[in-house]
Amino acid sequence: RSCPEPAPSYALAGDPPEPDPRAVLEPDKDGGWRVVSERVTVAVSRHGAVEVATPGGVVLRRELPPRWWEPVDGGGPARWAQRAEVAADARFFGLGGRASGPRLRDGVYRLWNTDPRGRFGPGDDPLYITMPVQLVVADAGTHLAFYDNSWVGRVILKEGEEGAGSGHDRPGTSELRMDGGPLRCWVLLGTPARVLHGWTALTGLPALPPSWALGPQHARWGFGGADEVRRIAAGYRERGLPLSALHLDIDHYDGHRVFTVDRRRFPDLPGLAKELRAEGVRLVSIVDPAVKAEPGNETYDSGAAAGAFVRDARGDDVRGEVWPGECVYPDFTDPAVREWWGSLYEERLAQGFSGVWHDMNEPVSFAPFGDMTLPLSARHALDGRGGDHREAHNVYGLTMGMAGYEGLRRLRPDERPFLFSRSGWAGMQRYGGTWSGDVETGWPGLRASLSLVLGLGLCGVPYSGPDVGGFTGNPSPELFLRWYQLGAYLPLFRTHAAIEAGRREPWEFGDEVLGHARTALLERERLGPYFMTLAQLARLTGAPYARPVWWGAPEDRALRDCEDAFLLGDSLLVAPVLEAGTERRAVRLPRGRWYDTATGTAYEGPGQVLLDAPRSRIPVLAR
Ligand code: NOJ
Repeated sequence: RSCPEPAPSYALAGDPPEPDPRAVLEPDKDGGWRVVSERVTVAVSRHGAVEVATPGGVVLRRELPPRWWEPVDGGGPARWAQRAEVAADARFFGLGGRASGPRLRDGVYRLWNTDPRGRFGPGDDPLYITMPVQLVVADAGTHLAFYDNSWVGRVILKEGEEGAGSGHDRPGTSELRMDGGPLRCWVLLGTPARVLHGWTALTGLPALPPSWALGPQHARWGFGGADEVRRIAAGYRERGLPLSALHLDIDHYDGHRVFTVDRRRFPDLPGLAKELRAEGVRLVSIVDPAVKAEPGNETYDSGAAAGAFVRDARGDDVRGEVWPGECVYPDFTDPAVREWWGSLYEERLAQGFSGVWHDMNEPVSFAPFGDMTLPLSARHALDGRGGDHREAHNVYGLTMGMAGYEGLRRLRPDERPFLFSRSGWAGMQRYGGTWSGDVETGWPGLRASLSLVLGLGLCGVPYSGPDVGGFTGNPSPELFLRWYQLGAYLPLFRTHAAIEAGRREPWEFGDEVLGHARTALLERERLGPYFMTLAQLARLTGAPYARPVWWGAPEDRALRDCEDAFLLGDSLLVAPVLEAGTERRAVRLPRGRWYDTATGTAYEGPGQVLLDAPRSRIPVLAR
């Protein structure tokens, strides 16, 4: 019952599930073997091809024998490639957070967590969270395939083509090319709900956010100081707008040093936190992994004494450049380092923070060109196994989450930690959620926001949301409003923007927007118990709060290609406005009777209806 080597698998939560004692192993006529169990048949050919089929014998996935490939440019050693075939009608989803989805079109998807240099839109790939996890939906059934290997690599997807009854279907293909690491694959099959349930059984239950984290939150890079924070909280209060949390970005640090406070601008942070708390507003702190390399900086000194920082092959600390200047990086793949780092959150709690926001943990080191991260040769502990950055990079954010989450649990055993992280990998849901990162302001960015939330949900990360209004520049009042109306129905509902970007307070866009934003906020408040139920369900079953419309009917092909609406739990269908000047939009309905929550009109699904989407609201239907 132990995990296939090499250990540890950062994705798996403890031991893998028990093998089914009733499964039967039988020889195949061609010299291969078949494993027959109640829900799946797996045939392994003499040459190493693996076929996963339903009990009825329909093949969902055919893994061809793994093979070696030589990079075309002749550079580097040979590596292995793993090619799989799926049904001609299949659609691919997942691979972490992809801005161009949720349906993943033909293309090359890199597996390398990447900061897109301060902004991204639907054309940018990869982003902060990549995962070798794909959810495949076809007429014959749904399955999830996970290649448990954190190395740098890529996945090449090609959807299949149906031969229109000619019998000449071209299967869809997924080719995985890894630069190293084990060939270790999990396949889960069943309904989408069953697959996600199995996925969380394997990789861990999503952390349950504290209930306040399901309320409206507001952030900004560049709050001038305590007075501005007070003013914003008062701005919400005086206008009757609910607010659950305010987030402080790196500008509240002393010289951008993690675990410090700029006392000139925040002379009494614990006092401020208490004052806001009395009004029902929590404070959340950004936490960056890079530590300013400067003797006298307490975090640096204690980390250096503990040998906590990533080193090169010569044994010197690897240095990079981040907000505070020259920095070093904790090696979170070392359990002792995780413990040290987790204990540092005591300082954040003493400052009065109620939650943490992990940033820059791909990890980032600024560079004018090339890859903005640590050198590939940087050494990591990998929990005793030892290795380099090519293997550790993609689990850097995940293991930072582990350190922070476990630290908070130790420090405050009676409270559910609130943690969300920009980077991560398979299994990151155990420690909390994520957010979009620096989504570019514009209508394409709004669409990308939805793609990220839905795609991550299908990879087992149910709690996320975008920077409402976009991270960069100035949204038009209309764009801000439409983003706000979408955000109000996503798990993490937070306005945020860059230091040089325009304001994001809902009253900054005129009275009309303020009125409609208030409606969205109050509706979010009213749905509080529904969101809490969804959070509990996500924890119990792995089902994301926000689900593609095909969730309950993956066999409905029209739904499979519908990317502009989503189900919020089982009972609500949300159809955001994703284009300028739209006041009416087509909404594709799954099977069943749907009531427009604004007008009460009933519609019968499946089918498509045209619904009003005036500026005051987006269509939301109740099953
Ligand atoms: C990058 C993050 O994505 C963004 O949200 C944050 O405001 C900046 N870093 C500054 O900390």
